[in-house]
Amino acid sequence: MRKPIIAGNWKMNKTPEEAKNLVTELGPLVKDAKCEVVVCVPFVDLVETKKALRGTKIKLGAQNVHWAEYGAFTGEISATMLKELKVDYVIIGHSERRQYFGETDQTVNAKIKAALSKDLKVIVCVGETLEQYEAEETITVVSKQTIEAFKDISKDELKKIVIAYEPIWAIGTGKTASPTDAEETISVIRKTIKRLYNTAASEAIRIQYGGSMNPKNASELMAMPSIDGGLIGGASLNAQDFAKVVNY
Ligand code: PGA
Repeated sequence: MRKPIIAGNWKMNKTPEEAKNLVTELGPLVKDAKCEVVVCVPFVDLVETKKALRGTKIKLGAQNVHWAEYGAFTGEISATMLKELKVDYVIIGHSERRQYFGETDQTVNAKIKAALSKDLKVIVCVGETLEQYEAEETITVVSKQTIEAFKDISKDELKKIVIAYEPIWAIGTGKTASPTDAEETISVIRKTIKRLYNTAASEAIRIQYGGSMNPKNASELMAMPSIDGGLIGGASLNAQDFAKVVNY
């Protein structure tokens, strides 16, 4: 049985003070959650958030990491730095990073390796653009992204990785993939993992859906057999809304 995982992706929202207030409100609201709960916050919020999470079961996540261990990479953050702050998860390859910051399947793969080498867990994002969706290229695009992301990642390391399937046209748009469409694509991703590793690995890996998931549609998405959780943007910025998704 896969334990569902629901993660908030705050993106570039919330100051450290606001982060503290949000998680302080969130803690009691999700204390009986049956799923794993994660908040992925901006780098500068990590310290305050970690403190405010004390005594809760909520895990801490970052939204990006660099592939190098250290060095002349102005403005970047390493896996060692995140580890020292006791970060549990890091999102890698979010479509906004791919779209606005030049991330490629190769850098995504390098970043996954860097994170795993410091014992961080990974949420790796895949998903098609609207254009690719309309051209019925979803399966091709998502399969390729998955294959490239997992290059030279061992079966053992796989246990530390969660995949988030996020159709780009559904992110922040209020348009959600239908539960059956999301289920179908996620099943294809699972089959890709089976081809790359084996049946046991494909049945063990958790795959989230992301893209305008909210209190209204969470339960029907979570009811799909292959959907193991959600990566939540907009609806994670409000404690009440995020708690409703978590307690779907
Ligand atoms: P959204 O964002 O929930 O606001 O659509 C999801 C994401 O980008 O991870």
